[in-house]
Amino acid sequence: MTKPLLIGNWKMNGSLQLNQELLHRLIPKLQQLQKHIDIAVCPPSPYLFQVCDALACTGIVTGAQTVSEHASGAHTGEVSASMLSELKCRYALVGHSERRLKYAESSTAVAAKFEAVQNAGMMPVLCVGETFEEREAGQTRQVIEQQLQAVIDRVGLAGFEQGVVAYEPVWAIGTGEVAQALQIESVHQAIRTFLSSCAPSRKEDPSQRLRIVYGGSVNSSNAAEIFNLAEVNGGLIGGASLKADEFIQISESLA
Ligand code: G3P
Repeated sequence: MTKPLLIGNWKMNGSLQLNQELLHRLIPKLQQLQKHIDIAVCPPSPYLFQVCDALACTGIVTGAQTVSEHASGAHTGEVSASMLSELKCRYALVGHSERRLKYAESSTAVAAKFEAVQNAGMMPVLCVGETFEEREAGQTRQVIEQQLQAVIDRVGLAGFEQGVVAYEPVWAIGTGEVAQALQIESVHQAIRTFLSSCAPSRKEDPSQRLRIVYGGSVNSSNAAEIFNLAEVNGGLIGGASLKADEFIQISESLA
């Protein structure tokens, strides 16, 4: 298994000044953790150049929060994977629940984005997760398996050899309602079991090498318990990634 992965998803927050101040506090501390964990920050796309420049030679990398599934053309406002790759992005989130729910991104479109990111030489982070209603209806596994299957249909099971899965229960995002350890462990295990069940042979089973990270109200108080779970290989952090002390403490919990 490669190193655990910690990603800070800044969402639609920040400014040139705030970014500079945050990175100035983060870089010295996070650089010390490089040998233990992989760290990426995902700023809003207008700030990718600033953040990539600030992180150059630190070992900390950047990621995008979303990407077009198209290579180029008449897609006003969109950003292509090759453009992100030119900016030295290493990762790109695809299918974040806020994109799926607020911008009607289908699992088919998300799968195409996953493929576009890989074709541009970057690593896709496939976000999967259920809504509160889906969990209450006992549909959690069905929902997540459908989200995974769309990617398998597009790029094949081997696509997960060069990808990350982020389990983000929608009801835990931005709510302070972090998922319980048992819930996290069982869903991460179910993801591995599903992918393994799709493999024609053990050699073609990516599940044991796949990094599955958890996201949804992670903070400095709960991070250690979550990251100590056997099935958790890192975190995808929203609100807490905008607070230097919080993100540093979360990083230290993972390292
Ligand atoms: O992508 C990470 C994000 O969805 C989690 O947000 O604020 O609950 O950590 P937050």
